[in-house]
Amino acid sequence: MKVISNPNTNPVSSAERDKRVAEPGFGKYYTDNMVVAEWSEATGWADAKLQPYGPITLDPAAMVFHYGQEIFEGMKAYSQPDGGVSLFRPDANAKRFAKSAARIALPEMPVDFFVKTVEELVKADAGWVPKKIGESLYIRPFMIATEVGLGVRPSNHATYILIATPAAAYFNSAKAVTVWISTEYVRAALGGTGEAKCGGNYAASLLAQKQAAKEGCDQVAYIDAKERKWVEEMGGMNLYFIKGSGKDAKIITPKLTGTLLPGITRDSILTLANDLGYKTEEAMISIDDWRDGVKSGEITEIFACGTAAVVSAVGTAKSIHGTWQTGDGQPGPITNQIRAALLAIQHGSAEDKHGWNKRVI
Ligand code: PLP
Ligand code: COI
Repeated sequence: MKVISNPNTNPVSSAERDKRVAEPGFGKYYTDNMVVAEWSEATGWADAKLQPYGPITLDPAAMVFHYGQEIFEGMKAYSQPDGGVSLFRPDANAKRFAKSAARIALPEMPVDFFVKTVEELVKADAGWVPKKIGESLYIRPFMIATEVGLGVRPSNHATYILIATPAAAYFNSAKAVTVWISTEYVRAALGGTGEAKCGGNYAASLLAQKQAAKEGCDQVAYIDAKERKWVEEMGGMNLYFIKGSGKDAKIITPKLTGTLLPGITRDSILTLANDLGYKTEEAMISIDDWRDGVKSGEITEIFACGTAAVVSAVGTAKSIHGTWQTGDGQPGPITNQIRAALLAIQHGSAEDKHGWNKRVI
C-alpha cells in the first residue's frame, strides 16, 4: 500500500500559517492536508490518499454513528535543531493502533503503512510544525466504521483518517494539575476496553470530568473497577509517584493490569528515569497509599504523562475521602528534570540513546 499524493493547491497563506503556529493552542487549527484510506472486508486496504484537509461526507446510517466503533492515536512531530522534523516512537503508536483495532473489531493497519501515512502528512505540512521547545505538531490518526447498516456487528467497511494540528502544551507546565479521584465512575474493567484507545472510553469519562470541574479539579484519576481502591490512570494520561528525593528517589507507576492504556510516554519514562539514575517500579498503588504517602511526606512528587500532557505535575488530589496535597503543591525538581530530559530527546538536543526518534525531514 502506498500514499497517493494530491496535496492542497490552495493552502493557508504562509503569513496566516505562521500566525497560527505562533499561538497554536490545542486542536484550534488544522494543517492544509489530511490522509484518508479505505478498507473493505472484500478487498482489504486500498492505497491512502493525501488530500486537502476538509469535511467528509458520511451516510447517516454509517455504523460509527450508532455503535461507536472507532479508535484513535495521538502522536507528535518535533522540530529539530537543524530545522528538520522527527517523530517520536511512531512504530509504538502503529502497534497500539493495531491492538486497539483488534479489540474494537476494526481492521488492523500494517505498521509500515500507518507510519508511511504519518510521514507523508508531516512532509506535506512541515511548515505547520512549531519550533518552540514543548510545542509540536500533534498528529491524530483515527479509524471509523463506515458500513451503512444498523445491525450490531463488526463493520465490513472502515475509513482511516489522519489529521494534524499545531499544539502548545496541554497544561501550563509551571502549574500543578489538580485531580478529582472518582469513586463513583470507573474508566475500565478487566475484559473491557481500557487497554484500547477507542472513543467510547473517552465518551464514558466525560461525566466524571464534568464532576471534577464542579469540584474545582482539572482532571479525573480513576481507580480499579473491582476493588475500588487501586489507582489506575487519568482520563488521558498515565500517573507516576515519586518516593524520596535526590539520587535515592524511586519513581513508581501503576502496573499495567489490563485495564490501563499502555502509554508510550509512561514506557519511555521507565527507561529514561533509569538513565537518569533513579530506581523505577511498576506497582499497585491504592488511594490510601496516595493519601498517606503525601501526608507523611514519603511521596514527594506526582506527575501525569502522555503525548498531549508531556509531563505535568499533580498537586492537590480531592475525593469523597478528603483533600490532600503533594509537597508544596508546585511542580517538583524530579518532575521538571524528567520533563526536560524527555523534551530534549524529542527535540533532538540530547542524545537519542534508544533510537526513539524517527527523522522525517
Ligand atoms: N492514558 C490514556 C487514557 C490516554 O488517553 C493517554 C494518551 O494517549 C495516555 C494514557 C498516555 O499515552 P501516551 O503516552 O501513549 O500518549
Ligand atoms: C494524547 O495524549 O495523545 C491523548 O490522546 C490524550 C487526550 C488529548 C485524549
